[in-house]
Amino acid sequence: MAESPAISPEQLARRRGDYGFDAPYVPITFAVIGVALLGLTAASVWLFNQPVLAVVCAIYAVYMLLSAGSYIYTTRVGKFHVWAGLLTGLRLRGDEQAADLGCGRGAVLLMAAQLLPQGKITGIDLWKTMDQSGNDPAETRRNAASEGVNAQRVELLTADMRDIPLTDASCDLVLSSLAIHNIPSASGRAQAIDEAVRLLRPGGRLMIADIRATSAYAEQLRQRGMANVQVRNLGWRFWYGSPFVAAKLVSAEKPM
Ligand SMILES: C[S@@+](CC[C@H](N)C(=O)[O-])C[C@H]1O[C@@H](n2cnc3c(N)ncnc32)[C@H](O)[C@@H]1O
Repeated sequence: MAESPAISPEQLARRRGDYGFDAPYVPITFAVIGVALLGLTAASVWLFNQPVLAVVCAIYAVYMLLSAGSYIYTTRVGKFHVWAGLLTGLRLRGDEQAADLGCGRGAVLLMAAQLLPQGKITGIDLWKTMDQSGNDPAETRRNAASEGVNAQRVELLTADMRDIPLTDASCDLVLSSLAIHNIPSASGRAQAIDEAVRLLRPGGRLMIADIRATSAYAEQLRQRGMANVQVRNLGWRFWYGSPFVAAKLVSAEKPM
């Protein structure tokens, strides 16, 4: 019987590749606003003699700069630790067939691939650089090499996750991290959730981490007859700036 290699969450979270920044314009905007507010704070004290305005600007400046720091921490470090815990917690056999919807430069795709030495994982993406800096399948392949992942175990498909060119019931595991919310319409996100359900075999497992619409995903999964549908907060390591933009995990199983 196949067996997933014994890799601890700490080992799995230690990345050698470069996975870019999720939606890079967001932390840049936070930092620019924070610095501008610091300037306004100084001007309120030294030029306008407005101490109340200075205090308000200083509070917002600190908030914006902390938000930029939290965002950068999550996208560069935190999400890897959270996903390493989630993936090792699945206790995979190691020969599963998996898919990652919106895999980008491979943050989750390649950690999962390391737990599937006899299996295979397919990454589906449109490689949008607005959603992840430097997003390109060549970067994902370079990261696979940096992580020592056998390229034959990873397939990359340029496709929309609303219409995935994979056969029904071909996956034991479907993953998605911070990707489905990028589809602007609720009907489009619902199509992506239906595609995830379609890809799963009976007994297959689904894990979606996202910052918006997670209760809608869960509701749809229940309507489609998925079992053990749960939503839970993923903690401060998966905050994109503040607790107001916290990622949640939607997990479910396809009934046998
Ligand atoms: C914030 S990035 C997250 C990437 C990766 N999952 C991670 O956690 O690092 C979102 C990804 O979703 C992809 N994406 C957005 N809309 C998509 C769609 N309709 N179909 C496939 N991929 C899409 C983007 O190209 C991007 O790679």
